[in-house]
Amino acid sequence: MLHIVEVLKMSPGVEIKVKGWVRSFRGNRFIALNDGSCMASLQIVIDPENTDQELLKEINTGASIGVEGELVVSQGSGQATELHAKKIKIIGKASPEDVQKTILQPKKHSLEKLREQGHLRMRTNLFGAVFRIRHHMAFAIHKYFNDNGYFYIQTPIITATDAEGAGETFRVTTLDVASGKKEDEKSDFFGKPTHLTVSGQLEAELAALSLGKAYTFGPTFRAENSNTTRHLAEFWMVEPEIAFADIHDDMDLSEDFLKFIVNYAIKYCQEDLNFLNDRAIKEEQQLPLAQRNELSLLERMQMVIDHQFERITYTEAIEILINSKPNKKKKFKFPIEWGIDLQSEHEKFLVEKHFKKPVIIVDYPSKIKAFYMRNNDDGKTVAAMDVLFPGIGEIIGGSQREERYDVLAKKCKEFNVPEEAIWWYLDTRKFGTVPHAGFGLGFERLMMFVTGMTNIRDVIPFPRTPKNAEF
Ligand code: 4AD
Ligand code: MG
Repeated sequence: MLHIVEVLKMSPGVEIKVKGWVRSFRGNRFIALNDGSCMASLQIVIDPENTDQELLKEINTGASIGVEGELVVSQGSGQATELHAKKIKIIGKASPEDVQKTILQPKKHSLEKLREQGHLRMRTNLFGAVFRIRHHMAFAIHKYFNDNGYFYIQTPIITATDAEGAGETFRVTTLDVASGKKEDEKSDFFGKPTHLTVSGQLEAELAALSLGKAYTFGPTFRAENSNTTRHLAEFWMVEPEIAFADIHDDMDLSEDFLKFIVNYAIKYCQEDLNFLNDRAIKEEQQLPLAQRNELSLLERMQMVIDHQFERITYTEAIEILINSKPNKKKKFKFPIEWGIDLQSEHEKFLVEKHFKKPVIIVDYPSKIKAFYMRNNDDGKTVAAMDVLFPGIGEIIGGSQREERYDVLAKKCKEFNVPEEAIWWYLDTRKFGTVPHAGFGLGFERLMMFVTGMTNIRDVIPFPRTPKNAEF
């Protein structure tokens, strides 16, 4: 069987067979058939006089059909070729009455409504585009690392350590917690408290300290109760880790990697990107001028490729923010002083207003970052870096890791990381320790950037957020 993506590249004059779902049926003659292989539908032309009347009644939007016929030069505009049907078979019916109640009904539906019908939304042009691009982005990530000598390592999903030390974890247990009865943790499945991982980094470090260059790409889970458009409770993270590398190598890698992926999207997802680009322009025309993007989706992507990312220290970022117009006019909600965690309004200002390109901020205060980050000589900052993107904010978070055993052991104590839980991590600093660094890319944040979708729930097939685990 041929897929429509291939059919549309074929020359007319051949007999073919296709299968797909009816998007629309006009004038008892023209079927728009889509099989998901690409954005475009194939136009099927039938001769109603020579088609069984009962069959005609079942060619409804949403139904699946098989068609055999001849591919010919199209008489109409809008497509180069069309399929003149000789044989049509209904594979799966769809009753117009039922279809009316769903988002399959060809008209504009709100994103909220599309989310409620997550089981059907991939059938729309919009979500077809988003999820085809998501596939290509995942593939591009594996390609980049494979081509650059990194080994893909699968890190555990169930773990007993909290890598980020933020405590926002989902417990994994076979104990009967619902009964409220106190049970001994030793009798739990793993004999100790466990939860879903928040990051594969600690294990990725073990791999890098053996294989040299490694990366993980898997699901991560955070029970942070932040119901924002940029947070999911279940999201996918890409975490490369390199031995014999410092924070500068880490920043170089993050920039090269992001440019490669964005470029890959432009090269291989043209049709879907053009659709999303046009859609975003139309959507933005509804917004007040101040809320519109200065650049279109495709221009923002090109901007990332064309510009060197700005690299500044946290201390410099704070200075810029203190002296900024919005701060002087008291426009920021959160006050700025050295030591604060930068809020998204601050990141937005730096990227979109001040530098107008991606920014990497480095050397954050140690107090607001994780225990494993390498102490700088100033005694108050760590070799941590965040990559900030226009419209997204933080897309990557990374650091050089503390490779000095004594310093790391001391930091474990300061951050209340129990040595019994992490003895294996500390051990690697005893046997041929080396400077090493890595980062985590939030895959859905990247997806937001390359699709222009403004809610993270619309770039993962089945989002998990507070009070929502449907499908
Ligand atoms: O900055 P984070 O917390 O860093 C880590 O987890 C490190 N262990 C990474 C490393 O060095 N190997 O998370 C990394 C990225 C963030 O920059 C953001 O893009 C994304 O993961 N992220 C989320 N994406 C969606 N929903 C959430 N709740 C997210 N939390 C973080
Ligand atoms: Mg972070």
